[in-house]
Amino acid sequence: MSRLAGKVAIVTGGGGGIGSAVARRLVAEGARVAVADIFEESARRAAEPLGDAAIAVAFDAASADSVKALVDQTVAHFGKLDILHNNAAMTDPAKSAQDTTATDIPLGIWQEILDVNLTGYLLGCRYAIPHMIANGGGSIVNTASNSGTAGDLARIAYGSTKGAIITLTRYVATQHGAQNIRCNSIAPGVVLTEALDKTVPGLKDIIKRHILTPEFGTPDDIAALVAFLASDESRYITGENISISGGGLIHQPHYADLKAFMEGAG
Ligand SMILES: NC(=O)c1ccc[n+]([C@@H]2O[C@H](COP(=O)([O-])OP(=O)(O)OC[C@H]3O[C@@H](n4cnc5c(N)ncnc54)[C@H](O)[C@@H]3O)[C@@H](O)[C@H]2O)c1
Repeated sequence: MSRLAGKVAIVTGGGGGIGSAVARRLVAEGARVAVADIFEESARRAAEPLGDAAIAVAFDAASADSVKALVDQTVAHFGKLDILHNNAAMTDPAKSAQDTTATDIPLGIWQEILDVNLTGYLLGCRYAIPHMIANGGGSIVNTASNSGTAGDLARIAYGSTKGAIITLTRYVATQHGAQNIRCNSIAPGVVLTEALDKTVPGLKDIIKRHILTPEFGTPDDIAALVAFLASDESRYITGENISISGGGLIHQPHYADLKAFMEGAG
């Protein structure tokens, strides 16, 4: 497939489970990619197998200067910018453990999560859009989450940023549509990255009762959606939030209980 031949992309959080799969997929479809992460080593590990089609860039999504430098370095290296995949997020287990409830979350943790997950996406748009306009247009794909569309027992800051990303996406799409900039968000449900499988081993069994597909989604499933939204095949889709979660949020809340009851009765 060469849907992305000639395109240049930035993938933030590119050293992580989903980001590295997206970088691989975009390159497989013909793009050249800046794989950007706060951990230089993991960015390098993801970029190196992709050869000359990828560079590794260390950056901090929470710093305006650093995000600007990432965009400038990408344009200096590859000559332009067509695609931005804002995907980095605070997923450090020690910090996530403190992301609890409205009454308990330390304000410092709340702010840190907002800075990376939300302001980081704004900054990516801020510095990427002028280059995209200069180039005749572009596609921005923001990673939100199903956690941004429904409440949960923990991670109030994470969920709030993911909800806000869906709204940020609509504003960017609205404000820059006339300049041929499309902006969409994707909302993964549980995706079994290696890290998640290790840190929350019991989660798998709970979630499995609520998804409708026989198998969990993988980072490669997410990458396929990002590649589609990045490509001109999706040229009439903008401002949307697309859930990619095995139907986990589309059924009645009592689905799992009723299913267990019916199986027991049968
Ligand atoms: N895995 C899932 O089940 C799931 C579900 C819904 C949404 N998501 C979202 O998908 C995206 C990717 O998550 P993942 O599962 O691959 O997790 P991951 O932890 O493997 O990837 C996140 C990456 O972001 C990087 N990062 C963290 N802080 C940063 C900063 N300040 N600057 C730059 N990079 C930074 C990390 O180093 C890491 O490589 C995230 O936005 C996450 O919220 C994941």
